[in-house]
Amino acid sequence: MKDLFGQALLDYQNNNYTEDIITSTNISDEDTLPLPYLFRDYKDMPKLEQKALNLAHGSVLDVGCGAGGHSLYLQNKGLFVKAIDISEGAISVSKIRGVNHAYTASILDETEQFDTILLLMNGTGIFQKLSYVTKYLTHLKSLLKTNGQILIDSSDIQYMYEDEDGGLWIDTNANYYGELDYYLSYKGEKEMPLTWLYLDFETLKTACLTVGLHCENIQEGDHFDYLAKLTISE
Ligand SMILES: C[S@@+](CC[C@H](N)C(=O)[O-])C[C@H]1O[C@@H](n2cnc3c(N)ncnc32)[C@H](O)[C@@H]1O
Repeated sequence: MKDLFGQALLDYQNNNYTEDIITSTNISDEDTLPLPYLFRDYKDMPKLEQKALNLAHGSVLDVGCGAGGHSLYLQNKGLFVKAIDISEGAISVSKIRGVNHAYTASILDETEQFDTILLLMNGTGIFQKLSYVTKYLTHLKSLLKTNGQILIDSSDIQYMYEDEDGGLWIDTNANYYGELDYYLSYKGEKEMPLTWLYLDFETLKTACLTVGLHCENIQEGDHFDYLAKLTISE
């Protein structure tokens, strides 16, 4: 990984903001990911993220923290927050911005236990493929303290397969429709392609059942997105 995402965050943090990140997927054209959005504060966050922050309690693990906005908000409220990200640039920025416990690490390497685990801005993306979901959920469950919760958001992207007449062109022989090849470029350089998973609520709920997690739809967003709360089944 070249860590272009981290480089972009560092550029913005260091007042070298000249252009945005460009993203595309195997089913969609180029789009811009504005760098200021990655530095959004509470008032500019989507309702689902605000809801997740309001529900957070106890010790918190912010998985894939990016520029650390969610961590900072909770830390400022007096909660203990550990922020992790595989992007070194993201962790540098989070530290510069004041996140006290920020580490370059993958979620799969985490071993401590927490009251709240946050995965926000399409949190299921980190699972990459439908076939990996059970592995990630099992691991996340092992990181929960008694009565702990996982707060995770995602979207049902079936709408992206609709043609002008409202018909669907999903290839039923292909992989799960939310499993996308994701391309990112920044300042003319291309990142290594990655797989990014959007998971509809019912599929997440079914996967949760298989690993002994209870999955509740806390809130729906404006565009097929939702916030889910996962807790250990009794
Ligand atoms: C869409 S960004 C979201 C950033 C931040 N949560 C936000 O809402 O602005 C996803 C983040 O997850 C990180 N990431 C991807 N895979 C990860 C993994 N296995 N463990 C930890 N972080 C990961 C990426 O580097 C990236 O910073």
